Amino acid sequence: MPSQNLSTIIVTGGAGYIGSHTIIELLTKTNYNVISIDNFSNSTAKSYQRIKEITNKSFESLDFDLCNENQLVTQLSKIKNIIGIIHFAAYKSVPESVTNPLLYYINNLNSLNNLLKFAQEQKIENFIFSSSCSVYGNAENLPVTEETPLKKAESSYGHTKQIGEDIINFVCKANPNFNAVLLRYFNPVGAHPSGKIGEFPLNRPNNLVPIITQTAVGKNSLTVFGNDFDTRDGSCIRDYIHVSDIADAHVKALNYLIERKNKNNVSLFNLGTGNGVSVLEAIKSFEKVSGKKLNYTIGPRREGDVVAIYANNNLAKKELNWNPEFSLDDMMLSAWKWQLNLEAE
Ligand code: UD1
Repeated sequence: MPSQNLSTIIVTGGAGYIGSHTIIELLTKTNYNVISIDNFSNSTAKSYQRIKEITNKSFESLDFDLCNENQLVTQLSKIKNIIGIIHFAAYKSVPESVTNPLLYYINNLNSLNNLLKFAQEQKIENFIFSSSCSVYGNAENLPVTEETPLKKAESSYGHTKQIGEDIINFVCKANPNFNAVLLRYFNPVGAHPSGKIGEFPLNRPNNLVPIITQTAVGKNSLTVFGNDFDTRDGSCIRDYIHVSDIADAHVKALNYLIERKNKNNVSLFNLGTGNGVSVLEAIKSFEKVSGKKLNYTIGPRREGDVVAIYANNNLAKKELNWNPEFSLDDMMLSAWKWQLNLEAE
């Protein structure tokens, strides 16, 4: 069992896609106690088993809804030595947020507010927030830097991330001892290189890569949302980044805060590779590494999609000493390996 004397890191959404990969990095690269909180709204407890198999390490987990403040306070008050919180738990589907905006405002913001309030009351000083490149909206100049002005969000999902960032900025301004890192993820994809854990949406996925791998095994059908955009091949451009690189950035951001290397009490970093990749190029990469030809159709544009976005990631490289290691082919190959493992189960 984890030692009571070690500092504890709370990971919310630890059974989810990025959360689970981050727990793996925390368990293999640090000595912190890790406690995951997840209500399995879009994940299962199987993730925990998989993390334990990969790392051979143990960690604790709690199952409750962070929107329930009473439960949050009761459960978390029992935990000693909390030194930091990494907050992943949130809804994350752009199209779902377009059709059901209140679900996103209520879930994503109530949970954040409750956690921040608890952190303030307990004097927990280090907080990492999962933000998204969707906060930039349809940015005028690419690649986007952290200084790029934010446009109106294209979806309520993106808006909850903008508001979340604003809330944390104000909380940090009012509390000089509270330190936060806001990480703006571009498009996290792929799976742990072992292929033993990866993205596992409970319902039909909305994100491109799980749809690609499911299509390749005949469990889904892929439609490319628009080929008439003003891009090199007409499909949207995104900055796909391997989930293990994203996870690694969290460990670095956490240590950056704990070692007080941060220059301000709120820091902001883009997490992308810096490469813009079109939907059709992503499909080609998958076909190359898997050796499978994908049957796809071209459909209409999807509401809420921005045309093109990719990151300038210089700040994260410099300040966090972070360097994304995985190529687009690595991302696709690991996602494919994971899909094949799921098929074999
Ligand atoms: C958005 C956010 C990203 C966030 C993610 C969480 C932006 C720019 N990015 O990603 O930061 O992490 O939500 O879910 O808002 N596509 C198809 N067919 C499909 C599915 C997707 O063509 O069946 C295309 C989309 O139009 C898009 C690309 O693939 O161009 C990626 O889509 P998706 O994986 O859903 O991620 P984003 O919406 O870009």
